[in-house]
Amino acid sequence: MPESNLVDPFGRTINYLRISVTDRCDFRCTYCMAEEMVFTPRKNLLTLEELAFIGHTFMDLGVNKIRITGGEPLIRRNVTQLLGNLSTHSNLNDLAITTNGSHLHTLGKDLHQAGIKRLNVSLDTLDSAAFSRITRTGKLETVLQGLETSSALPFQKIKINSVILKGQNDDQIIPLVEYAISNGFDISFIEEMPLGEISSHSRSDAFMPSSEIKQRIEMHYALLPAPLKTGGPSRYWKVDASETKNTKKQVCHIGFISPHSHNFCGDCNRVRLTAEGRLLMCLGNEHSIDLRATVRENPNNKDILTEAIIKGLALKPKEHHFD
Ligand code: 5AD
Ligand code: SF4
Repeated sequence: MPESNLVDPFGRTINYLRISVTDRCDFRCTYCMAEEMVFTPRKNLLTLEELAFIGHTFMDLGVNKIRITGGEPLIRRNVTQLLGNLSTHSNLNDLAITTNGSHLHTLGKDLHQAGIKRLNVSLDTLDSAAFSRITRTGKLETVLQGLETSSALPFQKIKINSVILKGQNDDQIIPLVEYAISNGFDISFIEEMPLGEISSHSRSDAFMPSSEIKQRIEMHYALLPAPLKTGGPSRYWKVDASETKNTKKQVCHIGFISPHSHNFCGDCNRVRLTAEGRLLMCLGNEHSIDLRATVRENPNNKDILTEAIIKGLALKPKEHHFD
């Protein structure tokens, strides 16, 4: 069997599905959301059964990598049941989650038991006042406690994701790298993308290109090119971590996700399912199909769902455009 039966019009094989299980979040990060948010009514969300059905259909088609996202995925009730269910499919070889870390101190163990191999935890600063300012409702100490709990569990990999904004947390680049190195985590720096309605700052004034972050890190650490290929848009470098207190990991990978300055669309391998059941072919909303309607009109009908997915893939654009 080929690696995946899902191939888009540009010959890219789709083997990676990102599933958002909720649009809700317990944080209100300034670059992501407005302070007052109106979320989707719960009846519009895919049920856990619908999510599992769609996930299994994608895996039947050859998807072997799934990432669970949100909003904040860990506030969806019984999400670990869904994870355990998805884990049972024999095609799945990588189940990951992206979380803000606010529930890791209580759920870390359940996540590992449900089959999660890799954790991405968002962390933009180690300064608790700045953390409260950026997340509006988050508590740094809870997230750090969650990371500590998780690092004691046998996850394959834990990666910190940091969005750096000029004048807000660019003083945290080196402290975050040091924190990652000393705890055996990898870290990726993400350029802010124009996603979500925000009011707190001008995106262009705060924009911090990856190249500048990398230069700042190189004033403190030698960055060696890393061959690490995760099938994602990150480009990785590595730092020799063998001289730190951490003995678990000799190397810290430092990634840069640069949707503005580096177009990674050529080897895009992914599609996204929103919590409401829209299948998004690209970062924006324009190229999408409604799989909720498909599964609600044709309950448990795998053939019809398969046909809808394959037809939808024909909409996948060649690349993303940000204004
Ligand atoms: N630009 C870049 N990254 C973002 N994230 C959320 N909104 C944006 C944005 N507008 C990040 C979060 C988290 C990951 C899920 O996406 O900080 O690390
Ligand atoms: Fe929540 Fe993540 Fe958005 Fe912050 S960036 S508000 S943690 S979904």
